[in-house]
Amino acid sequence: MFINKDNKLNTLKKWIENSNYTVIFTGAGMSTESGIPDFRSKDGLWKGIDPMRVACVDALITNYNLFYEFYKQRIENLEKSNPHKGYDILSNWERKGLISSVITQNVDGFHQRAGNKRVYPLHGSINTFRCSRCGQSASKDNFINKDSCIKCGGTLRPDVVLFGEALPQDILNNAIKEIQKSELVIVIGTSLMVYPVNSLPSMSKGKKVYINKEIYQQSFDLDLEGKAGEILEAVNQQLN
Ligand code: OAD
Ligand code: ZN
Repeated sequence: MFINKDNKLNTLKKWIENSNYTVIFTGAGMSTESGIPDFRSKDGLWKGIDPMRVACVDALITNYNLFYEFYKQRIENLEKSNPHKGYDILSNWERKGLISSVITQNVDGFHQRAGNKRVYPLHGSINTFRCSRCGQSASKDNFINKDSCIKCGGTLRPDVVLFGEALPQDILNNAIKEIQKSELVIVIGTSLMVYPVNSLPSMSKGKKVYINKEIYQQSFDLDLEGKAGEILEAVNQQLN
């Protein structure tokens, strides 16, 4: 039915215009054009490193040095990076009432930095920190300096969700409500391989769109293969 990319872009434009409740759902592929590697691509962050071995509760407890180095490197890389144009477009779309909210698996905080107000960060934040034992909050400098908790002497960690931990229940519940209300869900830059978050888009009774560098999910009403930033710019031009 959709023969070429122009047709697909035009279809998405119409769906956005006609939808009363559109939700954006993003993953690591949304930030690669900002210079932040994703997890599972060829040159992704975890090439050569087993994610289960480092971003997990077990590493935090039994191999803190590895855990610390992994997050320190990600934090330092993030300090050099900024949200790209695609982020500004999503922020504009929220301001104009074209989208209702953004649900994200990303911990970089880029949607919030770009100006989106209704963001549901399902995997937490890499920009805030706490004690791994008592929960006392700490600064980024404390973490980078490898300080101990001022209250109990415990190790410090970013407020990200690790493998082996539950998702923040209130954020998850609100994200599910958003998806259930949606008439259109636009999924951007995610392999949809991580449970339970990957089950969310299918909870929408509305239309489902997949924008990704490689298309390997067949359960969508429309897919657009390519870079998130470029596709968002192309759709945005059609909307203007
Ligand atoms: P993945 O690395 O699994 O998937 C990213 C997807 O984005 C891949 O399918 C890439 O092809 C695609 N991609 C890369 N660059 C792109 C671009 N410029 N435009 C469009 N698509 C692009 O990342 P996620 O699906 O986000 O969890 O991974 C989910 C979770 O796995 C992460 O939140 C993280 C990790 O474990 C935690 O840290 C808890
Ligand atoms: Zn503590």
